[in-house]
Amino acid sequence: MKIVVIGGSGLIGSKLVPKLREHGHEAVAASPDSGVNTITGEGLAEALRDASVVVDVSNSPSWEDAAVMKFFETSTRNLLTYEAAAGVGHHVALSVVGTQRLSESGYFRAKIAQEQLIKESSIPYSIVQATQFFEFVKGLADISMVGDKAHLPPVLFQPMSADDVATAVGKIAVGSPINGTVEIAGPEQFRMDELVRRRLAQLGDAREVIADPNALYSGAKIDDRTLVPGNNARLGETRFETWAGQVPHAKSQPAA
Ligand SMILES: NC(=O)c1ccc[n+]([C@@H]2O[C@H](COP(=O)([O-])OP(=O)(O)OC[C@H]3O[C@@H](n4cnc5c(N)ncnc54)[C@H](OP(=O)(O)O)[C@@H]3O)[C@@H](O)[C@H]2O)c1
Repeated sequence: MKIVVIGGSGLIGSKLVPKLREHGHEAVAASPDSGVNTITGEGLAEALRDASVVVDVSNSPSWEDAAVMKFFETSTRNLLTYEAAAGVGHHVALSVVGTQRLSESGYFRAKIAQEQLIKESSIPYSIVQATQFFEFVKGLADISMVGDKAHLPPVLFQPMSADDVATAVGKIAVGSPINGTVEIAGPEQFRMDELVRRRLAQLGDAREVIADPNALYSGAKIDDRTLVPGNNARLGETRFETWAGQVPHAKSQPAA
């Protein structure tokens, strides 16, 4: 089966492509670096020729409110149009658990718009909502700085490893479209401020983490229910400490 991975050079995409190939699929990593741009349309028709599935694990280069909305709207519209022309039978997109509860955030308004375009299109689809990646825990501090201290809300969340995200997305990509949303998450819950504090200590990062109930996440007020998945979520196996022990200097993401 030919499967095109949009954002194939990114954190999730670069883990997903080899997993699909290991299972005998023709996985094509597509991103601007490889001449495929979903904003301009460059290289899209060629990349999608004879493809059965498109997996969109791209992300906007800018997270400024207007820029991120323009990215996800334009990219998703272009993808769905080119997929229809190429006869693609399954569009898989990676989104975030709790997206619909995060509309105060410009980033998440853009994810809501992305999901809406997919639901309204004629292409059979599967939306995979993942929790925050372990690789992003340090990034949570980076986007939460007030002066020289990181202000994090002490709310529950259930992060997961990027590798488990890629495994779950791969399984869904090779299955039948569900025409709905699947939630995926990690095996354990943490308080966000506590896990960020722990991760900074592991990295030798001296920044202080303040538990601040009024601190926002990506511009949105959140509580214990916002980022936690429902009972039917599929859970990854990798525990945080196992991941941290395996990749003590794992490349952290700048933000999300
Ligand atoms: N961070 C989290 O904790 C989290 C949690 C749940 C879900 N998610 C979702 O996961 C998805 C992927 O995140 P990620 O961290 O893996 O992303 P990432 O590492 O930032 O990678 C983004 C990818 O998008 C590609 N891209 C950028 N502009 C493009 C364009 N115009 N056309 C085609 N490709 C383009 C990039 O290509 P180049 O390398 O060529 O620039 C790169 O391959 C996002 O949609 C995000 O919302 C994130």
